[in-house]
Amino acid sequence: MGFLSVLSFAHAIVRDRVRPGDIAVDATMGNGHDTLFLAGLAGDGGHVYAFDIQETALANTAERLASSGIPSSRYTLLLSDHAEMAQRLPAAAVGGVAAVMFNLGYLPGADHSVITRTPSTLRALDAALAVLRPGGAATVVVYPGHAGGADEAAAVEAWAAALDPSRYQAMVYRFVNQRNAPPYVIAVEKRKSSFIIHTSNKGERNDV
Ligand SMILES: C[S@@+](CC[C@H](N)C(=O)[O-])C[C@H]1O[C@@H](n2cnc3c(N)ncnc32)[C@H](O)[C@@H]1O
Repeated sequence: MGFLSVLSFAHAIVRDRVRPGDIAVDATMGNGHDTLFLAGLAGDGGHVYAFDIQETALANTAERLASSGIPSSRYTLLLSDHAEMAQRLPAAAVGGVAAVMFNLGYLPGADHSVITRTPSTLRALDAALAVLRPGGAATVVVYPGHAGGADEAAAVEAWAAALDPSRYQAMVYRFVNQRNAPPYVIAVEKRKSSFIIHTSNKGERNDV
């Protein structure tokens, strides 16, 4: 099997978890590619909540969804900071979300100074973990190549690395020999049940 691109890898993680009837979140709507992808997976009985702080993103996404024949009953486009995710979702959805997708950075074709910022990104990631259901996953595509992007990517990686391993699995999918600081994926799965990790004095690990 050939290696998946970073975007295909994020999609594979999400495709594995979002079933017809599910709720999913696009935390960075942009031009709506991921919103459309999630709406396709969640189907008629499901719902996608999508966030962006730019009107242009909502307009472009609405157009993309409409031209793809997705009924408006299947999605909600929110002009809101994704850090407000837990408050903006209906209370019944909190703890029931199958997947949350983040694609950090700026909106291609728009003002490049409107960009995700580390403090609200980290708050949004905490919120994403709160809204996920057990077995659900958050994917984050980070872009270390633009100004501020490397610091944001490092902060997201540090945030993921510090998560309690009995409650979450966190990983990085990254090509290490490409040029020009290419994007990579940080993904977190909320475990279905928490467990205790015992490490023997030989350093062997036993998951209970
Ligand atoms: C790389 S683009 C997303 C691309 C998108 N996935 C697509 O399919 O086109 C990043 C988006 O994040 C948005 N953004 C920046 N800060 C945000 C925030 N605090 N909350 C929500 N969206 C934000 C930007 O406006 C931009 O549209």
